[in-house]
Amino acid sequence: MQAAPRGLRLEHLADGAFVGTPTPRLSWRWAEGSATPQRSQIEVELGHGPDVRTIEGSRSSLVEWPFAPLGSRARGTLRVRAEVDGEWGPWSDPASFETTLLEVDDWEAVLIEPVGVGGLDEPAPIFSTVFETGDIESARLYITAHGVFEAEINGDRVGDEILSPGWTAYRSRLRFLTYDVTTLLRSGQTNSIDVLVGNGWYRGRLGWSGARAHYGASLGLIAQLEVTRPDGSRDTFATGPDWAVRESHVIADDLYDGVEVDLRPRPPRTASVRVGPEIRRVLFPSFTAPIRELARLAPVEVRKTGDGATLVDFGQNFTGWVSLRVAGLASRKIEIRHAEILVDGALATETLRTARALDTYVLAADEARTLEPRLTFHGFRYAEIRGADLESIHDIVGVVIGSDLERTGWFQCSNERVNRLHDNIVRSARSNLIDVPIDCPQRDERLGWTGDLQLFAPAASFLFDMAAMLDSWLTDLRCEQHPDGSVPAVIPDVIGELIAPGAARGAGFSDAAVMVPLTAYRAYGDARLLEQQWESASRWVRRALEAAGEDRIWEGGFQWGDWLDPSAPSGDPSQGSTPVDLVATAALARTVEALSELASVASPDDVPALRDEHSRLLSAFTKRYVTHDGLVLGDSVSAYVFAIRLAALDPQQRLRAAERLISLLRGRGYRASTGFLGTAQVLDALDDIGASEIAMRMLLTDRMPSWLAQVRLGATTVWERWDSLDDDGVVNDPFMTSFNHFALGSVADWIHRRVGGLAPAAPGYRTARIAPILTSSISSASVRHESPHGEISVEWARGSDGVTVDIILPPGVDAVVDIPGVPGRLPSGRHHFRTGTPQASSRGDDASADRLVEDVLADEDQGTRLIDLLVRLGIADDDDDAYRRLSPYASMPVRDLADEIAHPAFRAAGPFVRRAFLESLGEGRPDVRTY
Ligand code: BGC
Repeated sequence: MQAAPRGLRLEHLADGAFVGTPTPRLSWRWAEGSATPQRSQIEVELGHGPDVRTIEGSRSSLVEWPFAPLGSRARGTLRVRAEVDGEWGPWSDPASFETTLLEVDDWEAVLIEPVGVGGLDEPAPIFSTVFETGDIESARLYITAHGVFEAEINGDRVGDEILSPGWTAYRSRLRFLTYDVTTLLRSGQTNSIDVLVGNGWYRGRLGWSGARAHYGASLGLIAQLEVTRPDGSRDTFATGPDWAVRESHVIADDLYDGVEVDLRPRPPRTASVRVGPEIRRVLFPSFTAPIRELARLAPVEVRKTGDGATLVDFGQNFTGWVSLRVAGLASRKIEIRHAEILVDGALATETLRTARALDTYVLAADEARTLEPRLTFHGFRYAEIRGADLESIHDIVGVVIGSDLERTGWFQCSNERVNRLHDNIVRSARSNLIDVPIDCPQRDERLGWTGDLQLFAPAASFLFDMAAMLDSWLTDLRCEQHPDGSVPAVIPDVIGELIAPGAARGAGFSDAAVMVPLTAYRAYGDARLLEQQWESASRWVRRALEAAGEDRIWEGGFQWGDWLDPSAPSGDPSQGSTPVDLVATAALARTVEALSELASVASPDDVPALRDEHSRLLSAFTKRYVTHDGLVLGDSVSAYVFAIRLAALDPQQRLRAAERLISLLRGRGYRASTGFLGTAQVLDALDDIGASEIAMRMLLTDRMPSWLAQVRLGATTVWERWDSLDDDGVVNDPFMTSFNHFALGSVADWIHRRVGGLAPAAPGYRTARIAPILTSSISSASVRHESPHGEISVEWARGSDGVTVDIILPPGVDAVVDIPGVPGRLPSGRHHFRTGTPQASSRGDDASADRLVEDVLADEDQGTRLIDLLVRLGIADDDDDAYRRLSPYASMPVRDLADEIAHPAFRAAGPFVRRAFLESLGEGRPDVRTY
């Protein structure tokens, strides 16, 4: 007997969200079964008087809407069931849905703007109306603003979203929200609506130039309340000239600067409204996770400073604000400042640049009151409170906010510092996924940098359900893309021609037009996203190819290069050790390759030409930048990484490049020497040349600069620069240093794929790739991901009797596996394997791996084994040759010998035999069970 399918949902919407398309795609999960059943067809039932459609096949993710398109305000229920091995299984639980307003003409409301209040430097306005209702069956509020809004009905807050409607390319797209407000209204009585509107992204500061009002000079509101009576008739109360507006107690509000709140009574300044421009054409229904409060943090330390302020440490960097409960402070001004770090025990606000990040309150009365800012957010760990002595502060809480994305990925291993790094990456993701994926949450920037997202999207889409957010961001990208194909530096674009006017714009940055949709496709299997993005992606590539010119070498013009390479001058982060032109051409070749993958779904006819273009770029790259014997111009780590990742080199060149890369890394003690772009690829490049243990060393070193140096120095989020803080606690260039940037956190993607061992092998994880390194440098790791088909997990641990591997694949997911001693393909289900020899002789045995080569050679049994191995693997010609080759390494631990063997200098065949060498050391009969 089959169990029923579960978790039926429409599009990417959480249960209960309003549907914004007439043809929502359907997804559900197959219930876990004991076997892998063969499903031949699926039935979908709409409503109670059943309209049933049959769909051939067994897909369960983003299945096209099988019924006639829905209209606005349609309500219904849906169920699915599958035919399994010739018999119909049970129906799923019904999912109910309701569509929102789908047509422009559904809007009776018009945009209203305040007249005489709510000006640029004036208090935030509250728009309001009062109305009578009859009996109420149900009520819906459709609402959005020019600015950010908080609505109340009869004094009660509508919804729990923050900073709605979020940030989109407002000129082209303005999101509206839909609420069920039935319970907030009073049947047959007078009701009121009040909506506070702040500057937000629409009219507040954006970017470092100090500019404000990017989208318009006037705030505005459009809202439509529809009340359905028991007889089905509908009353509509919509924004129009009859609404009123008044000043709120929020005297000033800005996302960067904070808010100024004066709660003392003032003569109310009320005014009328005018009808603003026609905007219904750009309205679209929300389909992304809103910004919400995500957590509340208790301070880890509260202390008095020398000059009477209260300094609060929340123990971690985050995005949000301080909630303060105070009493006895009538007419006193309370100030709260925010900072990410302390220098000499005091707030270091230089890294905020011109963002004031200051919230102030003046209280009206002595009574106890909780103060929380609205219409702003800050990125901080420390807060300094002035104007309130400790006796009058009754409670201090850190309120964490962010897009309320569903968490979908988890990782843990036996190394606590790596776990801490991973936690920091998750925290930086949470801090910077604020409707738009932004670079940092604290300074006068907080922008959707294309490069940063391009690099972090793979990690983000493992950790969180990013499908809708990426879809929305890419739609903005299409809206903001220039007619000539150039892609702005930030999306939504508010810096325009501030950087490199007229330039095609940056390799590795604008490439987001290609890389981000591909990442989303790999993670979620949404082919429609690729179809939507195809034209924009190919236009960007055409523009970049044009910039590269006939010789396909992209030189000159503006580039960010391998941004923030630690060797770059701190004031000029693009000038690192890797020539910017080389970076540009390498990035272009990679992007064209990605575009051909995108085309294979969205425009198959274009694939052959793109493949040719890719080969042309590879030859141009090698011809210009790689010497005959594999040295790459710049001779930097990133230069070799790009060349290796591009697979641009012939075998001889590749060997030499591998050798040089390893020797550069060794010479730097495995510390980081790559910028944003190289960092996202360096560990994969090491995998490519069979040097995964060196990748692990890079991950595990805690010498500056490195990922774990940040952890060692107490980071709670990922820093913008490798050395945002140096070993002496000095801030590196406060003019551009953030302590909460996800870009260098791109390493989480590699950690998930190679330490945990889980990646998508087919779009949306229909097939998973399971390939953990089973490194000797840690003893266990586990990784879990909630894929579109259900949770996939991989867990490995090395014990006294070998390595155990546990894999769980949900129904509908199989896997390709690359683990010695484990079958190469696995069906869905739970699998347990034991592989490798007992610890004493395996690579995993720390005691044995730590033995010196000379000690192993002195041991007859192990010595013979080692020599045999070198000969068998072709590393040495014969026993004598093996002894001769080993002699320089006599005093080296066996563990390190593995890396030496990976080193091409050891012998020409080097890097590729390392793995076989390790496998042979860990040889044993695999114990394979599937249940
Ligand atoms: C941002 C970066 C971005 C860079 C490019 C910085 O100010 O914070 O993350 O990639 O500018 O110029």
